[in-house]
Amino acid sequence: MLNISERRYRYLYELAPDMYHTLNMDGIIVDCNRAWTKKTGYLKEEIIGKSVCSFFTENSRDAFCQEFSEIAKEEEVSGIERDLVAKDGTVINVEVEAIRIFDEEDNTTKFLVLMRDITKRKKAERALKRFARYLEQKNKETRRLSRRLISLLERDRHKLAMELHDQIGQSLTSVKMDVEMLAKRIKGADQKSREQIRGIEKRIAASIREVKNICHGLRPSTLDTIGLIPSIQMLVDDIKKHKDVQAEIYIKNLSSRLDPEKEITIYRIVQEALNNIAKHANAGNIFINLVVRNNVISLSVEDDGIGFDSEGVLKKNREEEKGALGILIMKERVAQHKGDFYIESQVGKGTLVLVEVPI
Ligand SMILES: Nc1ncnc2c1ncn2[C@@H]1O[C@H](COP(=O)(O)OP(=O)(O)OP(=O)(O)O)[C@@H](O)[C@H]1O
Ligand SMILES: [Mg+2]
Repeated sequence: MLNISERRYRYLYELAPDMYHTLNMDGIIVDCNRAWTKKTGYLKEEIIGKSVCSFFTENSRDAFCQEFSEIAKEEEVSGIERDLVAKDGTVINVEVEAIRIFDEEDNTTKFLVLMRDITKRKKAERALKRFARYLEQKNKETRRLSRRLISLLERDRHKLAMELHDQIGQSLTSVKMDVEMLAKRIKGADQKSREQIRGIEKRIAASIREVKNICHGLRPSTLDTIGLIPSIQMLVDDIKKHKDVQAEIYIKNLSSRLDPEKEITIYRIVQEALNNIAKHANAGNIFINLVVRNNVISLSVEDDGIGFDSEGVLKKNREEEKGALGILIMKERVAQHKGDFYIESQVGKGTLVLVEVPI
């Protein structure tokens, strides 16, 4: 029986797909199976009698020397990773497991060692790590780029607002004065000419107002002069003027001024959220909350309009080259301040935009 069992064991040992060897107490290989010769390219006689260290890479050899005395005390060892060098120089990554073999007096005489080839797994792990590093890098680059784009956007808007104001605004004002003077000079003119002049005056005044509005939209100068809350109030007044909608603003703990960059972010988000309500929502009510708590400023803009499939729209926006930008830009602005942006909407159930930015 013992003989049969011994033969069976030999058979399994020899033909196992993993590398098996028997190691004596000095770290010398006294026996090995066929997988060893197949994987390393050495003949059995080139393996047996050699120190197992001679098949390791330099790093693995150092680690083995340091650990062998410790390992020899253990009943069994598993999960150790080492690198072998095949005859042709290629490196084989292996995972090592070992158990002691005892003699009749219960003394350890040898170790039975299994080495599982994990080269492919290691290669995949390395590729995965490289890919993760690449993605992280790309992510950082995209963040930096969008931060830069948003600050350029604000700067260009500022520049454009100044130029509009200084060039078009000023020249319209001087044309207005000229027309007023002309009107005085031709007082005695016929009724038709006087009406024409009055029409021109009105159109110029309207254009001046228009330029002012455009300038304000480009660069909310009220933010610097009257502050965030009155500026938001002006946005709300504006939507009420154009849409049949009720709006409530609730503000708590916002006594002092915020960092100007954060004020612009909050202002722009309210502006875009209100624009979206005006453009898409068909809402009857708008609720705006602006609350400071635990050094975090929370903003919510809620409407009871037609709502939309927010998950579907956001997915579409991310994927389409020329998709809508409003919500994406809101999100990006908040990310710049390491804040959180959240939009929740369902068809027929209104829309909620939530923002939290650390002060
Ligand atoms: N308050 C809202 N009520 C209903 N639908 C909305 C609301 N806000 C956004 N949406 C929907 O989400 C879509 C995406 O909004 P987003 O602001 O990103 O783009 P947009 O307003 O269409 O274009 P823009 O790039 O000019 O902002 C809108 O086209 C609209 O369908
Ligand atoms: Mg929009």
